[in-house]
Amino acid sequence: MLRASLCVVTARKDRRLVGIGRAWGDGCFRAVIDDFVVVPPERGKNVGTRIVKMLLTRLATIEEVSLSTGLAMAPFYARLGFVLSRGAHMKRIAARSAQAARVNPRPGIGSAHDAGTA
Ligand SMILES: CC(C)(COP(=O)(O)OP(=O)(O)OC[C@H]1O[C@@H](n2cnc3c(N)ncnc32)[C@H](O)[C@@H]1OP(=O)(O)O)[C@@H](O)C(=O)NCCC(=O)NCCS
Repeated sequence: MLRASLCVVTARKDRRLVGIGRAWGDGCFRAVIDDFVVVPPERGKNVGTRIVKMLLTRLATIEEVSLSTGLAMAPFYARLGFVLSRGAHMKRIAARSAQAARVNPRPGIGSAHDAGTA
């Protein structure tokens, strides 16, 4: 997964990994920021902001950088230049993940379980 990424940014404290973010894409027109997380004790100290800024520097030549997030996080990303995009976010879950989708159906969102009962 990491090897297939366009770039990976890590944050370390005393050589210990405390944060990570990566981007994948076609290396030209589209990149997606994903797997962005900071360990709880280091949150709220600007580590996450620095990770995204470093990713964006590395992705400076990419036409469109996107990410999926909850609406609550929108102000955080807006400070970094992201805008909410119009339209629905759609996904298709691979068959091998269908079991997990049945165990954890997300309320209000169509799942593999719902698809079989129409
Ligand atoms: C999101 C995350 C990576 C931010 O890392 P961070 O080092 O705390 O980020 P910064 O210190 O640069 O910025 C902190 C700001 O992020 C925003 N923020 C963080 N988590 C938030 C949440 N769940 N909802 C809304 N805003 C949030 C707030 O504006 C916060 O400011 P505050 O500390 O004054 O409230 C970290 O909170 C995390 O790992 N969360 C769990 C995983 C996750 O949600 N990843 C992002 C998926 S899109």
